[in-house]
Amino acid sequence: MTDASTDAPSATARGRRLHGRRKGHALKPRAERLVAEVLPRLAVPAEGPLDSVSLFGAPRPLALEVGFGKGEHLAFQAARAPEVGFIGCEPYLNGVAGLLSHVEDRGLSNVRVHMGDALDVLERLAPASLVAVYLLHPDPWPKARHAKRRFVNPEPLDAVSRALAPGGLFRVATDHPVHLRHVLIEMQKRRDFLWTAEQPEDWEAVKDDWPDTRFARKARALGHAVWRLEYRRT
Ligand SMILES: C[S@@+](CC[C@H](N)C(=O)[O-])C[C@H]1O[C@@H](n2cnc3c(N)ncnc32)[C@H](O)[C@@H]1O
Repeated sequence: MTDASTDAPSATARGRRLHGRRKGHALKPRAERLVAEVLPRLAVPAEGPLDSVSLFGAPRPLALEVGFGKGEHLAFQAARAPEVGFIGCEPYLNGVAGLLSHVEDRGLSNVRVHMGDALDVLERLAPASLVAVYLLHPDPWPKARHAKRRFVNPEPLDAVSRALAPGGLFRVATDHPVHLRHVLIEMQKRRDFLWTAEQPEDWEAVKDDWPDTRFARKARALGHAVWRLEYRRT
């Protein structure tokens, strides 16, 4: 897990505080080129309502990943479902560059990128416009006094709920037991999400359409469990 708490918070488009790293090591020349030339073409418009036409020029189903890290999961999903428009949200510049390299390598034309807080996009999307939201290994903020910073909290969940279509998928992964407990408690309170697990093993099952992310691989390499929770919007 990152220790995001060492970085100063910054304000998001809506004046919220966003905690975590914006920038890591200096970008390599290819990453610099991708950020300078490809990002402006794929960037989510900074203002105004968002739907598949404003983002992709034509009606299509949409999916969104919150905090895509280096982008390998988002690129996997986008390659698997070219008919779906994928919106990736990640404030970390080096992560955005990572996603852009996957987009270029795989020749993906169904990805848009928001370099910032996912809430800024979720709140501008047309209601019920998403078929899936992915939240994989979000920062766990394990200290109780930081619990309000976790993405799985009422305000962000309301935004996910609003943007998801009925039956839409909400996938959450975590490898942190304190965070797992928090997610289970918060999600249990909601009537707008149904947990799809039928038996305890379901949350550790490996699925073809759910590859491990970098954080999942790191956790497994340390011998930690990885829990995968899948909810459906009612
Ligand atoms: C622990 S990393 C996990 C990265 C990746 N999902 C993985 O599993 O490898 C969490 C990521 O979420 C990003 N993040 C944190 N808050 C966010 C927010 N409000 N919107 C979008 N991304 C966010 C961070 O910058 C960080 O890259």
